[in-house]
Amino acid sequence: MAENEKEIAGFSKMGKREKIAWLAKNFLYANPVEVVKEFAEYWHDNIESQKLLDGFSENTLTNFPVPFGIAPNFKINEQVYAVPMVIEESSVVAAASNSAKYWLSRGGFKAEVISTKKVGQVHFIYHGAKEKLFSFFNSIKEELKQGVKHITGKMEERGGGVIDMELFDFTELEKDYYQLRAYFETVDSMGANFINSCLEEFGSQLQEKIVASDIFSAAEKDVEIVMCILSNYTPDCLVRAEVSCKVEELGKFEDGKVSAEEFAANFQRAVNIARIDPYRATTHNKGIMNGVDSVVLATGNDFRAVEACAHTYACRDGVYRSLSECKVEHGVFKFWLTLPIAIGTVGGLTSLHPLAKRSLELLGNPNAKKLMEIIACVGLAQNFAALRSLTTIGIQAGHMKMHLTNILASFQATEEEVEKAKQYFEDKLVSVSAVREFIEALRK
Ligand code: MEV
Repeated sequence: MAENEKEIAGFSKMGKREKIAWLAKNFLYANPVEVVKEFAEYWHDNIESQKLLDGFSENTLTNFPVPFGIAPNFKINEQVYAVPMVIEESSVVAAASNSAKYWLSRGGFKAEVISTKKVGQVHFIYHGAKEKLFSFFNSIKEELKQGVKHITGKMEERGGGVIDMELFDFTELEKDYYQLRAYFETVDSMGANFINSCLEEFGSQLQEKIVASDIFSAAEKDVEIVMCILSNYTPDCLVRAEVSCKVEELGKFEDGKVSAEEFAANFQRAVNIARIDPYRATTHNKGIMNGVDSVVLATGNDFRAVEACAHTYACRDGVYRSLSECKVEHGVFKFWLTLPIAIGTVGGLTSLHPLAKRSLELLGNPNAKKLMEIIACVGLAQNFAALRSLTTIGIQAGHMKMHLTNILASFQATEEEVEKAKQYFEDKLVSVSAVREFIEALRK
């Protein structure tokens, strides 16, 4: 087949069936009727609902279902939540639920939002005297803020707006490169469009004001705006989640073989390892993000933004470290997490996606601060569950149980076969081939 048959003009204008048939012919080499049928199985029955989903993205063929689960019993700041989690990985919701239940009888989770500042940048090039630029910038700062009133009016009514702005000199790293960094409060919205609109206005006003000023030479007036965009690094949009109890209240582990004191010491050491070694820290934080992302996704927020920010924050002192910390002192076990989480509970997908709306309702329609607290607690719970397994029975015992269920489902095992397999694999290693052999023998 000629390579150019894989190229196409006007793909976006094609209907769904036409798109799928074209892909079937040129990329899947399959029967187009079968392929259309397969993709169509996941179309929404309701045409209006499908239109809504299609509107979220482009060139859509179908929907990609991911499980929507619930982790109940999350006691956070004395309130009990049933937390919605959207994730494709087995064991994550089970682990969060186990942790939530464990801490329910030990006082639950405490969480507090430390700050809610968001950040945006105007990157620009200025060829001239630095001091002149800095003093001019300071003199027009208020005017710049006033100049975006047409954008910030509604946000200010809700208690938000532009907080402040600063000028940074990066000329030692990139010739003539300066940066206007602006700080925003966006209250309950994620605020990406609001921030980006303000930044573009700051960029053009800065340029216009420099051109209009007679303190600058012709060369200095030749300001070039490189780009105006929010930063997903929001170290001052920070939340802290914590669990703590007396060491003796932790209970015993591994059928009483591991005492509470031993468990606490082993757990603390595991956290410390993730604070000193980036290899372990990455996996440790990935576990935290299993919990964080699933709630971020369930509530219609941008998990890529939250992920990107979390990892930059984990690296804030120059070494990539664990986001959580643990202390065992004076007979008290304390485990906590600080994490920047820039999310919203109004606007965007949060109010458009029917299931995101339902998730928020399940959580009592929280404001953004409350949602930040819930998300951080789920991240901490996830981390606790992972470390508890890792430092006691190992991760595979739990994982393999879930894994077995998934493998059995892929063999369309009956309820009876599932029961027999669970008994058989109680003390054996689970693998696809071992399960296949077992099922085949059973079915003979
Ligand atoms: C798996 O998705 C997450 C864990 O690897 C996290 C960890 O190791 O802490 C279990």
